[in-house]
Amino acid sequence: MPRIIELPETEAKGGRLSFIEGENIPFGVKRVFWIYDIQEETERGGHAHLNAEQVLVCLQGHVQVYLENTKGDKYSFSLSDPSKALYFPKQHWLKMSCDTGTILMVLASNEYNEEGYVRDYDDFKALEL
Ligand code: TYD
Repeated sequence: MPRIIELPETEAKGGRLSFIEGENIPFGVKRVFWIYDIQEETERGGHAHLNAEQVLVCLQGHVQVYLENTKGDKYSFSLSDPSKALYFPKQHWLKMSCDTGTILMVLASNEYNEEGYVRDYDDFKALEL
């Protein structure tokens, strides 16, 4: 089930530091990517991953994340704190509404593979059958 994971956080040297390691998140990380230079409020996502699990951290700015599973359960998360990570399992339809200037970091359980994406919502809904 999608959920917020509170990351360890230390406050030192005039700043905050959070990290992800070991059992902090429920999968081994195979890929890290980041989304940045967002010039205007924008909608991203519009897909699901057949097999990949992901964790999303909003490093700067704000993102509203909408998730839906194949049964139709819907979740919405507001992320703006880099000490919180959003975990979501495979086969969740993802939509994100990013504010201008937002920087996101995403950790994935797989390497990039376009074949692992479902980019058509009707195809996604058909997965429950
Ligand atoms: P996409 O996953 O559709 O972006 P978002 O979910 O943020 O809307 O990816 C956008 C483009 O970047 C697409 O052409 C695939 C490419 N891409 C990679 O090459 N490697 C990656 O690890 C990711 C996540 C995307």
